[in-house]
Amino acid sequence: MSKVKVLPHDKTVDVRDGVLFLAAVRAAKAVLPSKCGGNGACGTCKLQVESTKQLDPPTKTESRMLSARQIQDGYRLGCQAKVRGDAVVTLPEDPLRRVIRMQLEAARREERGE
Ligand code: FES
Repeated sequence: MSKVKVLPHDKTVDVRDGVLFLAAVRAAKAVLPSKCGGNGACGTCKLQVESTKQLDPPTKTESRMLSARQIQDGYRLGCQAKVRGDAVVTLPEDPLRRVIRMQLEAARREERGE
């Protein structure tokens, strides 16, 4: 069993080794989009894994869907990469939520006269 901590939700779940990160995230009751149903075709399940030492190398599908820089920075596809030990994963911010956050931050800066 391995512990997977899911950020920014700060939830930790115990999962069997070999389980997909997508399944681990769902076990943590966090949302990670998977528009292609886990076929490695959409890239919406992208997440960042901190403990890359205990991961299998990226699959051919991941190498096709992610840039070399993303892979170097620990990005993986949740539907392809498997849990191989304790890990911390960070889910990307929802695009709509990011827009709202940026607008609120701009409004606050304007209120402060910055
Ligand atoms: S769910 Fe589409 S690439 Fe993973």
